[in-house]
Order: sequence, then structure tokens, then C-alpha cells
Amino acid sequence: MSGIKICGAGHYAPPKLVSNADLEKIVDTNDEWITSRTGIKTRHHCVEETHSDMCRHAAQTALERAGIKPEEIGVCIVATFSSDFLSPNAASLLQRDLGLLNDTVCFDINAACSGFLFAIHTAECLLAASPRKYGLVLGAEMLSRFINWEDRGTCVLFGDAAGAAVVEWNEEYESLGAVLHCEGDSEMLGVTGSGHKAPPQIFMQGQQVFKFAVNAVPSCMDQALTRSGKTIDDVDFFVFHQANTRIIDLAVRKYHIPEEKYYKNIEKYGNTSAASIPMVLSELTELGKVGPGSRVMLVGFGGGRAWGAALAEFK
Ligand SMILES: CC(C)(COP(=O)(O)OP(=O)(O)OC[C@H]1O[C@@H](n2cnc3c(N)ncnc32)[C@H](O)[C@@H]1OP(=O)(O)O)[C@@H](O)C(=O)NCCC(=O)NCCS
Repeated sequence: MSGIKICGAGHYAPPKLVSNADLEKIVDTNDEWITSRTGIKTRHHCVEETHSDMCRHAAQTALERAGIKPEEIGVCIVATFSSDFLSPNAASLLQRDLGLLNDTVCFDINAACSGFLFAIHTAECLLAASPRKYGLVLGAEMLSRFINWEDRGTCVLFGDAAGAAVVEWNEEYESLGAVLHCEGDSEMLGVTGSGHKAPPQIFMQGQQVFKFAVNAVPSCMDQALTRSGKTIDDVDFFVFHQANTRIIDLAVRKYHIPEEKYYKNIEKYGNTSAASIPMVLSELTELGKVGPGSRVMLVGFGGGRAWGAALAEFK
């Protein structure tokens, strides 16, 4: 047996709030449509802040809450596809900004909205081989840069934010037992890149995403439980990617998850992609809804058709 536990989590969202009423002034939409279809009321957009600023704030909070010093970190992974530079990566900018030792393994992972799950699983594997047993794992996105303001179906959905978790590896801890999937899909949901002449932009077939998500979520939850030998009752809290309130509601109803065992912050932040799961972890610790010994199920799904789930315990 060996695995990781979460020792602390932090998050940051830039101060500029964009409400549904603000969007009504620039696109043909309305609060009733956005709220009833998605659950989103506001989202935060960067103005002066950089992606690195968001990462630094979230990571500093996570380190403080964990009581861990930068020099104790052996692995630093940022899940993102919207960092300040294509190179250097966001994790190495954190190495500089936080003063992580220069032999810390620092790199970024892109698995869109499921990125944090891929990153925390990778950190668990790498920490087993690291001389320092603490890892710093982030999900951070500045999606406001990629919004297509001509497309009312997507421009209302996304926000900017970063979330971070400090994890500790120990040979006595249980593994996350992460189940991670992808089926490369460049049409359903994504962001264009260097294969396109125009600047990067979000594209999405909303109904396809919805159908995909409502199947992917329960299927990977079942797989994660089977892999870890746990039942739904062994889970203290469910942390869903915050893409759409209706997708979360369907999963909650299917498993009869009581209200005190799950959390939604999509109303405030919109869809922050890779940041959404660690943002929830951070808010849950602030609210005292999870604490030492709490076992949480992390569930992610999204762009490029990637999805997965994992069970993580708080130290
Ligand atoms: C995006 C989503 C909310 C759209 O809801 P929907 O009921 O499928 O809506 P449709 O795309 O079928 O569009 C229905 C109508 O609303 C309109 N519409 C789209 N966006 C709108 C907006 N922001 N405001 C008002 N009307 C809008 C459409 O133009 C369409 O109008 P029409 O019937 O006159 O053609 C829904 O598909 C969804 O939640 N999908 C999952 C998205 C998601 O979670 N993405 C991230 C995954 S990580």
C-alpha cells in the first residue's frame, strides 16, 4: 500500500465579477436562461492579474494551511491549458515565485476540465520516487482569454481562477485509486490552437457534452469505488467538477447523495475548468465541511472528452 493524503488546499479568483446582467449588455442572453440552464450567476475574469498571479496566491494559501515550506515540495504540477506562456510552463514559474528548490519536478498537464485529476494522480506516482514527500498540485485557468463573444452558447459559461492542494506521500496511506479516461475528440468541446489561423477560442456542442457527462460521471464513480473496494457510504464528501448544476443534480439524485455531502460553487465562479475541483476542496476546508480523516470523491469530465474519478483522504 502507498498513496497520498491532502494536507491543505487554497484558491484564488480575481476580484472582477461579471454578472449575468453584465452579459445581457453585450450578448443576446438573459439571467433566466443562464441560471435555469447552468446555475451560473457570476464569474470572475482577470483584468490586471496574470495566470501566474492566480497560481501563486492559491499555492501560498495551500502551503500555509498545510504548514509546509516551499523547500519541502518534491513535485509541482499545474493542470492548465491557458498559462501565461506556452514555454516556460506554469509550474516552473511557481518554482521561481515560491522559491521551490530547483530540483523540484515541475511541469504542466493539459487534460482540460479533468486536468486536476490527472495531475494529482501523476503527483502520487512521482512522489513515490521523490526524496521529498510533499507535492503541490494546482488547477488554474484563465479562460476569459479564449471566449468567443460571438457565441452566446459558450461565452456565458467560463470564469478564471486557480485552486491548489498540498499532498503528502506515505507508504502507509491508501492510493487515490484514480480511474482516468480519454477518447480524443476535437469537435465536442475544446479550444483551438496552433493548427488554426485565428487566435485560440473555445468551441462546444452543448447537448453532446451534456449527454457525455451524464454517462461519464456515474460510470467513473462506480469504477473508482470498485477499484478502491469502497461503497458510496464510505465517501464523506463528493467533489464534482463545477460545469453545470444540472449535471451535478443528476449524479446526486442517482446515488441519493444527501445535501450535506456535496457542494456547488458554480453559481459564483462559473466553469473554471481544471481549477474547479481544487477550488471546491479549498472552500470545503474553509467552511469546515471536511477535515482530518474525511474521504472525498473527486469527479471530473470535460474537454477533449477526458474524464475520471479518485478517492482522496484529508490528513
Ligand atoms: C450549454 C447548455 C446550457 C445549452 O442548453 P441547451 O438546452 O442544450 O440549449 P441549446 O444549445 O439546445 O439551445 C437552445 C436555445 O437556446 C439558445 N441559447 C444558447 N445560448 C444562449 C444564451 N446564453 N442565452 C439565451 N439563449 C441561448 C440557442 O440559440 C437555442 O435557441 P433556438 O432554439 O432559438 O435555436 C447545455 O447544452 C449544457 O449544459 N451542456 C453542457 C455544457 C457543459 O457542461 N460544458 C462544460 C463541460 S466541462
